[in-house]
Formats: sequence, C-alpha cells, structure tokens
Amino acid sequence: MNTKIVIANWKANPATLDEAQEIFGAAITSAKKYEKIKTIICPPFVFLEELAKLVYFYDNNQPVNTFLGAQDIFWGKTGPYTGEIPAEMLRQFGVSHVLIGHSDRRYTIGESDEVINKKIKAALGAEITPILLVGEKERTDAREDVLVDQLSRDLEGISPDQITNILIAYEPVWAISTQKDSQPDTPESALEAVKIIKKIIAKNYKIETINCLYGGSVNENNVDDYLKYPEMVGAVIGGASLRKDEFGGILKVVSEIE
Ligand code: PGA
Repeated sequence: MNTKIVIANWKANPATLDEAQEIFGAAITSAKKYEKIKTIICPPFVFLEELAKLVYFYDNNQPVNTFLGAQDIFWGKTGPYTGEIPAEMLRQFGVSHVLIGHSDRRYTIGESDEVINKKIKAALGAEITPILLVGEKERTDAREDVLVDQLSRDLEGISPDQITNILIAYEPVWAISTQKDSQPDTPESALEAVKIIKKIIAKNYKIETINCLYGGSVNENNVDDYLKYPEMVGAVIGGASLRKDEFGGILKVVSEIE
C-alpha cells in the first residue's frame, strides 16, 4: 500500500479537554500501529496546546506518523485582529496542517473564496500544509462547474510548486453526515470528482501530482471502498473520528488496503 492519509475533523467537539485527551490518546495509540498511514488530527484550537504534548512526548519527541492540524488559520500576522489565530501561534504547538475551505466555514460562517485564498497563502508561507476542501452544495448542482470555480478562485496566484504542497479534499456538502438526509457519495462518483480535480489542476498548472482525498460520511464500513483507488490518497473523517473505537477501526481497515 502506498501511504494513505486519514484526517480527523473534530469540528466544534468535544465539549471538554478531558474528553479531547481521551479521544486523542486512543487515536494516536491506534495510529502508531500503522506506519504507512499518515494520521492528521484537527481538534478545536483550545485543545491544541495540551494535545501537542501527547503527540510530541509520545515517541521521545519524534512524531512519526501522527500530526496535529488546525481547523482554521488567520490570513494575516499578529496584530489588531480580535479573535483571529495567525500561523505563528499555531506553529508553536506543532501544527503542521490546516483545514481551509470547509463547507461549515464557506456556507454557515460565510467565508469567501477570496478569504480562503489568503488563508492558503498564509499557511504555505508558514510551512503549514493546507488541506483545501471543495465540493458542491446540492447533489443536483453542476459539480464540474463548482469545482472549476472553487479551485480557480481558491488557488489564484499560487505557484505550481506550492500546489504540490496542498492536499485537496473533495467533500460534497450533501454527503456530510450531519446534513439532513445525507448519504455518502458512491466511491465511483467520488473517484470521478477526484479525476475532475486532477484534470483542472493539470490544465491550470501543468502538474499531475496532486494529492486528493474524499470526505463525506466516511466510516469503518466504507472507507476501503474509497481508499482502494490509488488516485484516492486519503479521507477526511468528521463524525466517525470522534468515536474512539470506530476511528481505530478505520485506521485498521485502511492499513489492510493492498
Ligand atoms: P462526516 O464529516 O465524516 O461526519 O460526514 C466530514 C467533514 O465535514 O469533514
């Protein structure tokens, strides 16, 4: 198996640090067993400091395959920006990845493609890997048009070299487990979306080597249906990443993919 990437997006959960430590502890204990999986856990900001201690003290300060991600980043530096968290603050806690463009932020919070673009540039500038999430809102939307639009705006002004340092997740909003009547995309359709993303990137940047993931109701029972495809480098897991046993199960299933 080539290295696969499993990203846990905890969103605004859990409510307490005790619970966060418990879920995180279980996740890194499982992750450590599977060297070929890169596990990136994205907890809320307020838990980063304590959880960083668990990652970095785990293996004599040598995190091997488990990484800390943030769920957001400010596009500017320190200064008069009430409520924002710039890259240099995140870096102190060993944050190596950041989710950018999640549909919660695009549609519930109202983040524009222009802001997403600035955040990607800020992350790249601080050597934090952006995990850019793109995808259509409704199943009936013209998917390719949405992807062309989001990718061209979100990646505007970013060089081909930098693009290879970005992970791009196809995450259709209608497939996210917390949406009303949600259903996971079929693996074939998700693969098709990844091929569209690769085609758009190849056309705009003349590069073929972009790492694409799928997100949307991924769980222990279906993760291998997506990740069995070599084009599918990984998965973004929301709800199931908070269920300790299930997340461990997901990592096990992924480790068994040929
Ligand atoms: P889900 O969430 O796995 O609960 O569908 C995925 C996400 O929103 O990133």
